[in-house]
Amino acid sequence: MSRNILITGGAGFIGSHVVRLFVTKYPDYRIVNLDKLTYAGNLANLKDIENAPNYHFEKCDICDYDAVRAIFRKYDIDGVIHLAAESHVDRSIKDPFTFARTNVMGTLTLLQSAREYWNGAWDGKLFYHISTDEVYGALELTHPEGIKPPFSTTASSMEHHLAYGTDFFYETTKYNPHSPYSASKASSDHFVRAYHDTYGMPTLVTNCSNNYGPYQFPEKLIPLFINNIRHRKPLPVYGRGENVRDWLYVEDHARAIDVIFHHGKVAETYNIGGFNEWKNIDLIRVVIRTVDRLLGRKEGEDMNLITYVTDRPGHDMRYAIDSSKLQRELGWEPSLQFEEGIEKTVRWYLDNQAWMDNITSGEYEKYYEEMYRNR
Ligand code: NAD
Ligand code: TYD
Repeated sequence: MSRNILITGGAGFIGSHVVRLFVTKYPDYRIVNLDKLTYAGNLANLKDIENAPNYHFEKCDICDYDAVRAIFRKYDIDGVIHLAAESHVDRSIKDPFTFARTNVMGTLTLLQSAREYWNGAWDGKLFYHISTDEVYGALELTHPEGIKPPFSTTASSMEHHLAYGTDFFYETTKYNPHSPYSASKASSDHFVRAYHDTYGMPTLVTNCSNNYGPYQFPEKLIPLFINNIRHRKPLPVYGRGENVRDWLYVEDHARAIDVIFHHGKVAETYNIGGFNEWKNIDLIRVVIRTVDRLLGRKEGEDMNLITYVTDRPGHDMRYAIDSSKLQRELGWEPSLQFEEGIEKTVRWYLDNQAWMDNITSGEYEKYYEEMYRNR
């Protein structure tokens, strides 16, 4: 079977892990990374595989219909794994138009390009769309101290396992997005399903919880805080730090994408998560202790960097995803306990300071400062 796979957003955080996995695991596939290289796209994320014979890079905007169609033709694309997106909630609050353009119109442009190129010959084709659990809205924090297992989980390897409420997001949960980011992702998910239902295109959607790990842009909580702790800069905790997120190590997400791309059922939705809920403030304390220890500082001495700031508008209280369908039907489960994953992650950022400095020394820093001034 020849596979010519278009991976969009491959120069970003999750995309780079997916590209690396596919390029190394499937030498017979042709992997085409289509990325516009926005502020979040960084080819340094793929240095180790950039010369692989089965890897190709195309700098392209997913909204550029002619250019996208030309790439389908050039590489005879038969599978799409679509990750390109504007991905940061705070930016979506400041600039919702860019999110609608890329996440909605860009996804539609890709769908239409695939439809035109495949022209009804659906056999062996797949359009796989990567989405977020944020489309489901927010869950309540009914158990602020957390509930010990057993609750709805089969992830036997997870130890933390605290649930901060009795509800979870299931594949059947109604969409109820709140931020411009999640509204744009929800809209794109609907378009993908509409292309299946209307035209018969083989599509798949997965909704994943918060990822963490190497190569994440330092506007997101974990890499931002690791870097700030290192430089003893304040750690801006939104609101009271009570919000809850489920965290998944990025390589586990990439493995799930591999399994689903090859074995998932067309037109299905799969939730992907870590069964690993953390209150922001508890997670931040773990990160501080880990950075301190790995830098040879007294463990916990940087707790005083915690700075409570004005809450994010519309800040969703709790995300908690049930990924037992994926575990049951396709046998995937998270491989890392959070303590292990966070240790690997902190170590990676400390060992790759040049990667971080390249980002934080540039325009990005100015943007970020301005964002905080305007809060
Ligand atoms: P990211 O911001 O790190 O990377 C996004 C990539 O898309 C960048 O390389 C960027 O250059 C590219 N891109 C942006 N606009 C583009 C355009 N118009 N044309 C072509 N390329 C463009 O994002 P991420 O965190 O890696 O997220 C990847 C996908 O996974 C997104 O669709 C996101 O919604 C989804 N997701 C992310 C998380 C998470 O925790 N990060 C969780 C669940 C789902
Ligand atoms: P983030 O990494 O932006 O992911 P998302 O908003 O998609 O969940 O934020 C994770 C959580 O951390 C979220 O509840 C917001 C909070 N947060 C802070 O408290 N301070 C920060 O500086 C950032 C970036 C996030």
